[in-house]
Amino acid sequence: MSTGSPRVLPADSGIAEAAAVLRDGGLVAFPTETVYGLGANALDARAAARIFEAKARPSFDPLITHLADAPDLEKLVGPVPPAVAALAERFWPGPLTLLVDRPAEIPPIVTSGLDTMAVRVPDEPSARALIRAAGVPVAAPSANRFGQLSPTRAEHVVKGLGAAVDVVLDGGPTRCGIESTIVDARGAQPVVLRLGALALEELVEAVGPVSVRPGSSGQPVAPGTLAAHYAPRTPLRVVAGAQPAPADGGRRGFLAFRERPADGYAAVEVLSPAGDVTEAAARLFDALHRLDAAGVTEILAEAAPDTGVGRAINDRLRRAAATWDPADARMHGPADRGYRFSYQPPESEVSHADRTRHHDQRRDLRP
Ligand code: TXA
Ligand code: MG
Repeated sequence: MSTGSPRVLPADSGIAEAAAVLRDGGLVAFPTETVYGLGANALDARAAARIFEAKARPSFDPLITHLADAPDLEKLVGPVPPAVAALAERFWPGPLTLLVDRPAEIPPIVTSGLDTMAVRVPDEPSARALIRAAGVPVAAPSANRFGQLSPTRAEHVVKGLGAAVDVVLDGGPTRCGIESTIVDARGAQPVVLRLGALALEELVEAVGPVSVRPGSSGQPVAPGTLAAHYAPRTPLRVVAGAQPAPADGGRRGFLAFRERPADGYAAVEVLSPAGDVTEAAARLFDALHRLDAAGVTEILAEAAPDTGVGRAINDRLRRAAATWDPADARMHGPADRGYRFSYQPPESEVSHADRTRHHDQRRDLRP
C-alpha cells in the first residue's frame, strides 16, 4: 500500500484541476454511477502504465475506456456493428460496457494487447464533465488494488491506493455500487462477459436472448472474471440464508441480504431491509469494506435472490469467497461453476412468444 495521501477535491468544483492532471499524464480517481474509477488519459501509454502500477494490476487485464457522450464512440472508433450501436443508444450513459475494435489511437497497453477495446459512457454528471474537460478518452479500472474490494466512496480509494493517485474527486457514495455489465455484441447473439449493474432482464428486454459467459471476459485471461476477485482480506463464505453464528466462540461477521440474523455475530450488515436487490447492490461493497475492518476472522455472506442485479451480487460474493477457501467454495458452488449453473441463461427464461417480440424489438432498435 502506498503511504501518503492524494489530493481530495469535491467532484464538482475540482473538475478543472483534475482534468489538467489527466492531460499531464496523471492519475485521477473519480466517481461513476457504479464504482470509483482510477482514470488516466487513454491516448497516453505512459499514463495508462501508471494505472497498472498503482493497482498492482497484471498487464494482461485490460482497461475500460470511458467517453463523455455516446456520439464520441464513432468519432473514436468509426462505424460499429448495428447491435453495438443499438445498445449504446439504448443504455448510454449507463452501466453497460461494450466491446469494439481497438482504434489505432488507443495504445495496446490499454487493452492488454487485445484487438478489442471495452468502452462505456458513465451515467454520472461529474465523470462526464471531467472527461469532457480533459478532452481525451479516459481509461479507468475500478480504483482499488487488484483483486480487492471495489471502492464506492472516496474514502475507500484513499485508504486502498493512497498517494499512488494524484487526485481523488469526492462525489459521495456511488449510486449503483456494483460494476458495469460487460457485453460483446459484435456477433450474432450478444454475450454477457460480466454480470453487473445493468440487469440481464433489461438487456434481454432490449435485444432479445443473450448468452451469459461470466468467466470469459478478456483473452487470454478473464480479468474481473477471475474466479478469485473483488475480495475482502477477511475470509468470506457464501451461505444460503440468515443463520445463527457457529457456537465455537469465533468472532464472525454476517452480511445479510434482508433479515438480521439471530445474535452471535460480532458485526452484522443488512443490505436491504426492504429486500430490494438494487438497494442491496448499492450497499454491497461499502458493507464488505466495513465488515473487513471489523476485526472478524470470517465473514458469512447470505446469497441474494438470483434475479436482476442480485445475480451480479452473487457473482461478486462467490468470487470473493473463492479467494480464501477453495474447499468451501467448492462446497457452496465454485466461483467459476456455481453461479453459472445456478440459474438458467435468459434464453430459457423468455417464452417463445416473448422471444418473437424481442426479435421485433431488436429490429426496431437497429438504426
Ligand atoms: O463499472 C465499471 O465498469 C467500473 C467503472 C470505473 O467504470 N470499471 C471497472 O473496471 O469495473 P475494471 O478494470 O475493474 O474491470 C474491467 C473489466 C475487467 O474484468 C476486464 O478484464 C474487462 O473489463 N475488459 C476490459 N477490456 C476488455 C476486453 N477488450 N475484452 C474483454 N474484457 C475486457
Ligand atoms: Mg475492478
